[in-house]
Amino acid sequence: MRGQYRQQLLARSYLRLLRDSLCNRHYPRQEASPPHPTELRQAEGVLAEVRRRFADHPEAQVKHVLRQLTPELAVEWFRRNSWQAYTLLDESGLDNIQRCTWEVLEKNVPGDLIECGVWRGGSCIFMRGLLRAYGDGRRQVWVADSFQGLPQPDPQVSPLDAIAHEFLRVIGGLRCSQEEVIENFRRFDLLDRRVRFLPGWFQETLGSAPIERLALIRLDADYYESTRQALEALYPKLSPGGFVIVDDYGSAGLEARRAVDDFRRQRSIRGNLRGVNQNIAYWEKE
Ligand SMILES: C[S@@+](CC[C@H](N)C(=O)[O-])C[C@H]1O[C@@H](n2cnc3c(N)ncnc32)[C@H](O)[C@@H]1O
Repeated sequence: MRGQYRQQLLARSYLRLLRDSLCNRHYPRQEASPPHPTELRQAEGVLAEVRRRFADHPEAQVKHVLRQLTPELAVEWFRRNSWQAYTLLDESGLDNIQRCTWEVLEKNVPGDLIECGVWRGGSCIFMRGLLRAYGDGRRQVWVADSFQGLPQPDPQVSPLDAIAHEFLRVIGGLRCSQEEVIENFRRFDLLDRRVRFLPGWFQETLGSAPIERLALIRLDADYYESTRQALEALYPKLSPGGFVIVDDYGSAGLEARRAVDDFRRQRSIRGNLRGVNQNIAYWEKE
């Protein structure tokens, strides 16, 4: 009993350290400097082009987003790639992965874990660390990404994504290479044969991926089409009692939410959508 307690304490401390390292919380955070005139000039240029291209767009939501966009906001997007962290998630996002993973292990829900849209790999590294800390010896962690950044959205299908893309394009659409992600796993001593990479565009990789069952699907691909493609390909493989986490459900300038709502409506999925923070929502498959 005492040994078991010590084991739990060690696992908890390891996961705490892992989370803090992935979010780069061990060093004092630098105050964000005000936008530099060169950054602002670049942002104004992209903003003017976006306003010109979408000026006559009929949708009220597009007009609303165009009104909200400022060069300062655009600079925030530009700076995302210079974050000193392995994940864009905050404490609550990692906590949500931890709780869902714990629950599927506790309830013995069969299947692997996957993230679609991984950037530097931080949340997948965390998933692998969770399986190790909780003593799981079977499940795989699937790491699905183009490793070329976000795809160009079709403005006819998802105009808000197309607008966001113009800003994200400036920083290579959050591109991070597979080699870099592999190296990141290695740095945390979490690269082994239970980490499986699915490099390429979701529409080409997910449908034919050699995944049998899933217990956790994490979607963090920002756009309507990417989110929709991942749901179509993977939801049938999710075990009852498993979870779908959608990172951008609450992101106003992106259309992941519409993809989820369309998908759930068309499949008559009733599982309660629970919010984690401003952006993230998840549900359990019935
Ligand atoms: C916001 S980032 C992911 C952030 C990451 N989950 C984290 O924890 O920081 C979005 C990622 O989705 C990927 N992506 C988006 N749509 C995709 C698609 N259709 N196929 C493959 N990768 C895609 C991009 O390459 C990018 O790495």
